[in-house]
Parts: sequence; structure tokens; C-alpha cells
Amino acid sequence: MTTLEIRDLHVSVGDGADGTKEILRGVDLTVRAGETHAIMGPNGSGKSTLAYAIAGHPKYTVTSGSVTLDGEDVLEMSVDERARAGLFLAMQYPVEVPGVSVSNFLRTAVTAVRGEAPKLRDFAKEMKGAMDALAIDPAFAQRSLNEGFSGGEKKRHEILQLEMLKPKIAVLDETDSGLDVDALKVVSEGVNRFGSTGDTGVLLITHYTRILRYVKPDFVHVFAGGRVVAQGGPELADELENEGYEKYVKAGASS
Ligand SMILES: Nc1ncnc2c1ncn2[C@@H]1O[C@H](COP(=O)(O)OP(=O)(O)OP(=O)(O)O)[C@@H](O)[C@H]1O
Ligand SMILES: [Mg+2]
Repeated sequence: MTTLEIRDLHVSVGDGADGTKEILRGVDLTVRAGETHAIMGPNGSGKSTLAYAIAGHPKYTVTSGSVTLDGEDVLEMSVDERARAGLFLAMQYPVEVPGVSVSNFLRTAVTAVRGEAPKLRDFAKEMKGAMDALAIDPAFAQRSLNEGFSGGEKKRHEILQLEMLKPKIAVLDETDSGLDVDALKVVSEGVNRFGSTGDTGVLLITHYTRILRYVKPDFVHVFAGGRVVAQGGPELADELENEGYEKYVKAGASS
């Protein structure tokens, strides 16, 4: 059974010129297949840093701790190898790539992950099916990757990638930001569809409880000061909605 295990992870950012700053200060987290985890926390608490570190972004240096997927050392893997191993990361701020269409990007990504290029006709059919399910306009396939995408288009595109790439573990950073109610429902349904197969795990990063009305997490982790300071079930999200992060921010700073 698929398990992503993060142990005592410390991550710093910066190349030393303006000093190196420790952002993650000992994160412990285990995500198993069939589980949906929400990470919630205030701005600047290190949520995106955790996502980048898992994905292998070169700016973020792991100074100690471990990340394993089914016992394999993720930190030893290249970014490509992580994707092939079954990790998927949807960024809070995806990169624009003019001249590369959504369709070309997806086919390249699918080829990399599956280890062989899908037949063009099969791929087109598969992509159309996934786009229909997400209520994405067919013309979208020919747009340049992320260029001029609205907030909602970016997020639907994330879920489209999820449907096509079928990773084992999906890390979704701020998947609910910039979505109107209809788009929020479509995206949430996509996340639920993905998470409900039983073979896949979801790590959903957010600071709003809005999406949690549609995606029910099994576990909620509160992030503050670069570590997990509290854990609970879905009821913890309701408490955060009512009371905010204040008491957790204090706990994160003082420990
Ligand atoms: N590349 C970077 N260079 C310098 N500082 C960085 C970098 N990335 C992150 N940081 C700093 O690390 C801290 C945590 O940032 P991070 O983006 O992980 O927070 P977050 O919890 O995702 O916040 P938000 O809720 O606003 O998305 C912030 O103080 C941020 O300025
Ligand atoms: Mg963030």
C-alpha cells in the first residue's frame, strides 16, 4: 500500500548571499493510500515550502530528515524520478510556458510518467474525456501552458493533470484559491474522484476552510512556524474557521 512518509524534515531556503533561512523545522507527516490530509496554516508558515521540498525544487535545501515513498528515498530522486515514482505536485503559482500547448505538455508528461508515448488517437480521446468531466472548453487544449490562465483555469488544469497522470500521491497547494463556487465544486469533485480510488493519497494545502466543505479530509494538520503544531479530524477545520490560527501561531513560535 502506498505510503508517503516525512520524518523530522528541516528545509532551508536561500543561497547564502543574503543568509540562509530555516523554514521547515522538523515536519513529521504520513500519508497513506486512501487518505486525504489537509494542511492548514497562516500565510508564511511554510506550507508551500513543504510542497516544493517534496517536489525537489532546487531552491529548497533539505538539511536533515527524510522523505520516503513506499520505503524509497525520495530526496535521492531527480524531479523526473519523483514524478515517475508516483508523486504529483500542483503548484500555488504554476509557471507560464509560451509556445507549449496544454495538449503537448500533457502528452509529454504522460509519456514521461508511463514510460511510453500513448498513441495519438487514444491520448486525444482520453484527454477529451477528462476535459469533459471537468467542464473545460475543448479549445483550452491548444492554449499555451498557464499563459494568461484565469485562477479557475489554472486549477481545473491541475485536476486535468491529476486525471491524466494518475499519481499515487498528489500534493495540491492552494487548489481552492481563486475559484468561484461552480469551479470549486468541479475541482472538489475531481479531487474526491481521485482520492476515492483507495490506491491514492491526497495532501491538500490550504488556508481556507472553503474547499473542505466539498472535500472531506480524514486528517487535518495545523502548520505554524514551519512544523505541524496540532492534528485532528475534520472537526479541527471547523474550529480553525471559527477561531483562526492565533493560538497555534503562538505555539509554533514558542517551541
Ligand atoms: N524562495 C524563497 N526565497 C526566500 N524566502 C522564501 C522562499 N520561499 C519561501 N520563503 C519564505 O519562507 C516562509 C514560508 O513561505 P511559504 O511560501 O512556504 O509559506 P506558505 O505557508 O505557503 O504561505 P501562504 O499561505 O501565503 O501560501 C516565508 O517567510 C517566505 O518568505
Ligand atoms: Mg503557499
